[in-house]
Amino acid sequence: MDIQVVTGDIAAVKTDAIILNSFKGAKTLSGDIAAVDKALDGAISQLVKQGVIKGNLNEITLVHSLGKLPAGRVVIVGLGKKQELSIDKVRGAIAETCRYLRKNGATNITTILQGAGVNKISREGAAQAIAEGARLGLYTFRRYITKKDKETGEIKSLLIVGSEKEKPALEKAVNKSTIIAEASNWARDIVNEPANNMTPSQMADAARKLADTYGLSIEVLEKERMTKLGMGGLLGVSQGSQQPPKFIILGYKGKPTTDIDLVLAGKGITFDSGGISIKPSEGMADMKGDMAGGASVMATLMAVARLKPKINVTALVPATENLPSGTAMKPGDIIKAMNGETIEVLNTDAEGRLILADALSYAVKLKAKAIIDAATLTGACMVALGKICTGVFSNNQELADKVLAAGKEAGELSWQLPMFEEYREQLKSDIADIKNIGNRYGGAITAAKFLADFVNDTPWVHLDIAGPADSDKEKGYLVKGATGIPVRTFINLVLDMAK
Ligand code: BES
Ligand code: MN
Ligand code: ZN
Repeated sequence: MDIQVVTGDIAAVKTDAIILNSFKGAKTLSGDIAAVDKALDGAISQLVKQGVIKGNLNEITLVHSLGKLPAGRVVIVGLGKKQELSIDKVRGAIAETCRYLRKNGATNITTILQGAGVNKISREGAAQAIAEGARLGLYTFRRYITKKDKETGEIKSLLIVGSEKEKPALEKAVNKSTIIAEASNWARDIVNEPANNMTPSQMADAARKLADTYGLSIEVLEKERMTKLGMGGLLGVSQGSQQPPKFIILGYKGKPTTDIDLVLAGKGITFDSGGISIKPSEGMADMKGDMAGGASVMATLMAVARLKPKINVTALVPATENLPSGTAMKPGDIIKAMNGETIEVLNTDAEGRLILADALSYAVKLKAKAIIDAATLTGACMVALGKICTGVFSNNQELADKVLAAGKEAGELSWQLPMFEEYREQLKSDIADIKNIGNRYGGAITAAKFLADFVNDTPWVHLDIAGPADSDKEKGYLVKGATGIPVRTFINLVLDMAK
């Protein structure tokens, strides 16, 4: 989809559909909406008066122009109560409207700067939200559908109407949003791929392609190197699988120094059966998405390479399958992570923390100034926070606050959970330095406490994305399947840290 900023009178644009908006309780029309209303002989104001257009959030009203405008249709999307409008609601409303218009056969659509001027939403901010909402909301994963039905059309172009003076600033905002949304959609693609087509090797190939295209450095560590480095966590989890494990390292250099300002580590379990501690079959197919954290850190580097902030960032992805077999790790086995710490593996389904133990140790060895990891780590985090919110855990409040702020800006919900010392007691092993599961309670926190052992004093934030990494319904700019969370949080954070 091509997104362009155009200038002039929206009522004069030749397009399949014009997108306008309404607010809850607003009785009078003004500006662009009034102009279009006039051309339509008052059709919109009449619908407002009749109570058909109520202005409820995401309410969509279609008005055919029947030759009274160059545009074939006018769509009025509700933005809810004016005083409650946010950038994220604009993103969602545009996404819903774009999907509606796609279903209705529109290919070229045009919008005003939805929400600009309301609640301190700037005109650039509105342009970015519109472009992001459209690209994220129109995302599809249809590459395996061979019988294409004619129902699903495609929106080919979206015009955003602004003024001549602001055009360069709006174009800059649209370009930025394109990079951000494309990164998020790239991550969605990788996560939505079935596990038979997204093995650790294929994840490494995807990383190599990113590096080639966007000028990132890349290194993929193979089993021999992992053995030399003592990556017992990653090797232990992978030993039940026929697929070789990969340790993917992507690097972005935005300044001439060699220091690493930030390491982003992402869990890369391309399929999690649970291993010998096998999962029930119901819902197991969802575990093809257990590499969402890994995909998100790779996608972040793709966007960062295109946005070019002055900061050095490295992404680490330990990638493997977690499967049962005659060679698989067994409950009770003791393994040794890269930092030398021994782990009693009491449940082979708590595998994410084992591969992250090595990735975090590796990040410490790189002398990273800050480390953030993202992982679909625990069902317990979903019990605590629901499906829609990322769990945030940290040993450093300053860094945690930055991550929380970046998430807020992205509209990706996140909430911090405590890291009291007392939780660590659950992980005491009688025969090793640590065990990989705690008791029934506080499972998201004990998992985070496990990871904390491997970062030493480096400022670190752990994001448990088990809930929000995928969505079971279409809503706003999210569609069914992978969400791309927390890619946009990460990009905002990197840009903020580079300031
Ligand atoms: N990948 C799962 C966590 C998960 C569950 C993500 C559901 C998304 C949806 C992880 O490897 C896992 O199996 N965790 C266990 C840990 C337990 C054995 C301590 C869990 O949450 O049950
Ligand atoms: Mn598991
Ligand atoms: Zn897992």
